[in-house]
Amino acid sequence: MTLAIDVAGLNKHFGARHVVKDLNLQIGRGEIFGFLGPNGSGKTTSIRMLCGLLTPDSGHGQCLGFDLLREHREIKRRTGYMTQKFSFWDDLSIRENLDFFARLYQLPQRRRQVDAALERLGLCSRASQLAGTLSGGWKQRLALAACMLHEPELLLLDEPTAGVDPSARRDFWEELHRLAASGISVLVSTHYMDEAERCHKLAYIAWGQLLAQGSAASIIAGQALHTWQVSGAALNREMARLQHLPGVEQTVIFGSALHVSGRNEALLSASLQAACAQDQLTLQRIPTGLEDVFIHLMQSITDQTQGITDWTQRAPDQPAEATDGR
Ligand SMILES: Nc1ncnc2c1ncn2[C@@H]1O[C@H](COP(=O)(O)OP(=O)(O)OP(=O)(O)O)[C@@H](O)[C@H]1O
Ligand SMILES: [Mg+2]
Repeated sequence: MTLAIDVAGLNKHFGARHVVKDLNLQIGRGEIFGFLGPNGSGKTTSIRMLCGLLTPDSGHGQCLGFDLLREHREIKRRTGYMTQKFSFWDDLSIRENLDFFARLYQLPQRRRQVDAALERLGLCSRASQLAGTLSGGWKQRLALAACMLHEPELLLLDEPTAGVDPSARRDFWEELHRLAASGISVLVSTHYMDEAERCHKLAYIAWGQLLAQGSAASIIAGQALHTWQVSGAALNREMARLQHLPGVEQTVIFGSALHVSGRNEALLSASLQAACAQDQLTLQRIPTGLEDVFIHLMQSITDQTQGITDWTQRAPDQPAEATDGR
């Protein structure tokens, strides 16, 4: 498979903060690649390095066959970037907003490209509607249309569906899959697990460190966790008790049940069988899910970094959208 993105050893510091550490990413053409991780873990910073808005301190690689450091203008020309806080002119219509972006980017065939973007994203029927009156789902669609005006080969979408309702998110993802099937490569950051499961491949980053990369199945298999579901009364109290048992590495409440995971299958099973028989809890073996694995990855890196002060707070004098002026 040819790669849309192939980078290695990318690092970025902001002052004394090392916010992206030796990032390696390989994303195939026509692939939807999900980028996950807690707040402040370095997703946006990584995306901005990939599209040429931020210069990495070190590292190398290619994006769409162009050198990340020397050919960032070529990369920008072929990449659509939807920023995390995308905004429009509320008092302009959908068409006028798209026309504004088309002028801003000095597109050669402005009218044709606006029409094509309206058509491609099913916006024609609402072309005259003011952007300020659109629902969250239609606003995301407009944002996608705006970053696709110049017909990019690669989309970098930074939390495109944050705050959008489930049905609009489903429509948005169907659109992404249509685009991917037409050969467009997509890197999309998200905090939603259902969206992670819709991606062909995933990466999980925490504290600037890439902790896992691959298909959902391979990431789950890589952690070698065994998981049991415990249900019964007073789960909060049970959680406090179960988490100290031999073999138990993680306990997480999922609705009215508890997921208990660990890597030592025999030890975990023996501990849980005994505890559940004693307290009349129901015990059921379940497949380990992506969320169990991400919580485990996060826990393992938090344990390693304990003692480091919380640098996830953005300094007020350092706007998140600042660039190197490239
Ligand atoms: N321009 C900047 N100047 C200084 N620090 C920054 C800048 N941009 C980001 N940071 C810091 O870098 C770290 C990573 O931020 P980044 O925005 O990449 O995280 P993120 O994973 O996208 O988080 P979120 O999920 O909240 O969007 C944070 O500690 C943030 O405060
Ligand atoms: Mg971000």
